[in-house]
Formats: sequence, C-alpha cells, structure tokens
Amino acid sequence: MRQSGPLPLDPDVAMSSSLNARPAILALRSSKIREVANAGMGRDDVLPFWFGEPDEVTPEFIRNAAVAALQGGDTFYTQNLGIPELRDTIAGYVSRLHRPTPVESVTVTNSGMSALMLVTQALVGPGDRTVILTPMWPNLVEIPKILGGQAVTFPLRFTPEGWQLDLDRLLATLTPDTRLLYLNAPNNPTGWAIDRDAQKAILEHCRRHGIWILADDAYERLYFDAPAGQPDVAPSFLDIASPEDRVVSTNTFSKSWLMTGFRLGWVIAPPPLTDTLATLIEYNTSCAPGFIQQAGVAAIRDGEPVIARTVARFRTARDHLVARLNALPGIRVARPGGAMYAFFQVDGMTDSLTFCKSLVAEAGLGLAPGIAFGPEGEGFVRWCFAADIPKLDAGLERLEKVLLRRKAA
Ligand SMILES: Cc1ncc(COP(=O)(O)O)c(C=O)c1O
Repeated sequence: MRQSGPLPLDPDVAMSSSLNARPAILALRSSKIREVANAGMGRDDVLPFWFGEPDEVTPEFIRNAAVAALQGGDTFYTQNLGIPELRDTIAGYVSRLHRPTPVESVTVTNSGMSALMLVTQALVGPGDRTVILTPMWPNLVEIPKILGGQAVTFPLRFTPEGWQLDLDRLLATLTPDTRLLYLNAPNNPTGWAIDRDAQKAILEHCRRHGIWILADDAYERLYFDAPAGQPDVAPSFLDIASPEDRVVSTNTFSKSWLMTGFRLGWVIAPPPLTDTLATLIEYNTSCAPGFIQQAGVAAIRDGEPVIARTVARFRTARDHLVARLNALPGIRVARPGGAMYAFFQVDGMTDSLTFCKSLVAEAGLGLAPGIAFGPEGEGFVRWCFAADIPKLDAGLERLEKVLLRRKAA
C-alpha cells in the first residue's frame, strides 16, 4: 500500500536540527520603522510620515512606457546586465551629470537595494572589515553582516548648524585592512551632503590603501543646495574618480522619478567588476523585467522636468518643516542639504521607539524612530517631508500638542 502524508521524523533529528536560519541571519535587526508603522497602519486617523517614499503616483508617461512594453509582449528574460537601450541611456545620463562613462561600467539591477546587495556580494567576504558612515538607512548596515562581513560604524556629529564629518578620525578608522567604505550622501536619515574636499581626501586615502568606496547615490538628484545655474545634483565620487578607481556608485529610480514600486536601479563600477556582477545577477534575479526597464528608459529620457518639479516641491517642504520644527519647544534640527528627511532631536527624549509609538497612539502622527538608524540616532526622530504643506502643518500641530503635554507632565 502506498503511504501518504509526511514521512515520520526521527525524534533525535527533529530535536537536533534547528528550523531556522544561521546565526548571522537570526542576528539581523528587524526594522524599527516597521515596528512603529505596524502600530498604526490601517488606522484612518494617522498621518504617516514614517517611510521614505514620495507621496505621488509615478508620472503617467513612465507608467505608459511599462504598459506599452507589456502590451507589446515584453514578457521574456533579458540580459543579465540589462537591456542595451537602458544601459546606453544610463551611460549617457551619468556621462552628462558626472564623467564620461562607458556602457561597460553600467549594470541594471532590480532596485537600489539589490544594487547594494550585489556589490557587497562581489566585494565582501566572511570577516572582511567594512566601515559605514552613520546615522544610516538600516538596510545598508545589515547587508555586510548577511555576508559574514564586519560592519564598523563611524558616526557623524550633530550640531544644529549641520551634521559634521570628522575627516581625520574617519581616515584613521579606514585602516589598510579595511575592504570597503559605505557612504550615503545626501544621506538618509540626516540629509547630510558631503563636500568636494572631503571626497577628495577620502578618495586619496582609499587609493593609497586599496580600499573600495561604495557611494550610495540614491538621493543625488534630491539636492537643494546646488549653486544657481548648476544642475540639481550633489557632489559625487564619480566626478573625481577615474573609471579605474575602486569606486562604485549605486543608484535607484525610486526617489527622483517617483518609482518605488517599480524596483529598478543601477550600478556604475569598473568594467571588470561589472562583468562579475553579470554572473552574480544570474544567481540572484537573472535580470530585471524588460517592461520595467522600458519604463526606466522613458524616465531618464523625458524625466528631467519631473525631477525639477520634485526638487522645487521638496525644497519648499524642507524649508517650511525645518523652520516650524525649530520653533517648537525642545526641538533641534539641522537643515538637510538633500534627500527628503528632517532628522530632529527632542530634548530629554532617550527612547525614540517608545516616543514614536506614543505619537501614533496619542496623536495619530507617524514618524520614524532615530534608533532605527543605529545607536547614534537615539534621541532623534525622522520625518519624511515628501508631502504637501497642509499635511505637514497638520502633523506639526499634532507634534506640538504632544510636546506641550510632555512639558506639562
Ligand atoms: C539610502 C538609500 N539607499 C538605497 C535605497 C534603495 O531604494 P530602492 O531599493 O527602492 O531602489 C533607499 C531607499 O529608501 C535609501 O534610503
């Protein structure tokens, strides 16, 4: 008779084998932003500013490009490194903004997140030392740990005039045995943007010691302090590094082109590393979907007005939010140079997770706790200002009420 149902397990085997992942994976932090959001999602009365996401639907011409490609039958695998049309388009775009960039340096990825993971897979092995400038988007800090790498954090220092990088101390931390430096500027969550002199010093130091630089340029176009007449783009390592340098830039369509749900990004890397990324992509996702890549082509080709409008809107939102936050009792915030976040300090607040949960419960206000961005973020709260002014004002009123109540208690 044929037996049906699960094979019986030897009790010794059942006891000895864990049903879960390896220790490094179990040690990964779960998202504390999610923890706050879970407390309030589904409630109609909550004003959410917790996630880092533009509040607008992707522009119609970009959506139409994806729809047209799908309707045209673009449903097959594509090249590992991306379709030639998108790679060419990205190479042209990066060459216009930064330096001449050959198509052999371009890799298309299924998101900025995937770009960061692929590059780390290629460069970081067990025990390798990586240095990460913090406060930092939590995903980036966890990536090297997944691969067994060592993640050493290097904090920026908060002053109400701006976040400060202690360059000498950073260079001392970048010891010759360091494999890779992660740097995200304009930064999530602080909005800090690096200046050219610091970039040059870091590049020279890393050249001397053979250290890779991974610049996460997700917010390079959401930059508010470009000199008049210059394009809205933050200083980039790509401007000063040669294609032969150990410098990698990752990017995403998510923020500047309002395409978070499309999951499309790219990498600019030395051509030999790009060849290796093709192999790695085969074993990760094989390729990005063709019809999504067509949307990427349309975004870069016709999207400059979208970026200009978004930057103008976010700049207005930043100025408004920062001015009003600084006028509240016990709040200190530095003016962010880019990205879409205000990262503010609350006087006397030492548990940002509990504070943010109480904002949701007591006031229907959804913000992200600073502790989500590392221990250096404790005492701070992140507010995504990709929103209209009346919505920001409604949130500010709720925050003010809670602050006044805390003061009175
Ligand atoms: C600093 C930073 N890098 C990369 C990303 C990745 O974006 P995506 O995976 O949507 O392309 C994000 C998203 O929030 C980010 O904040």
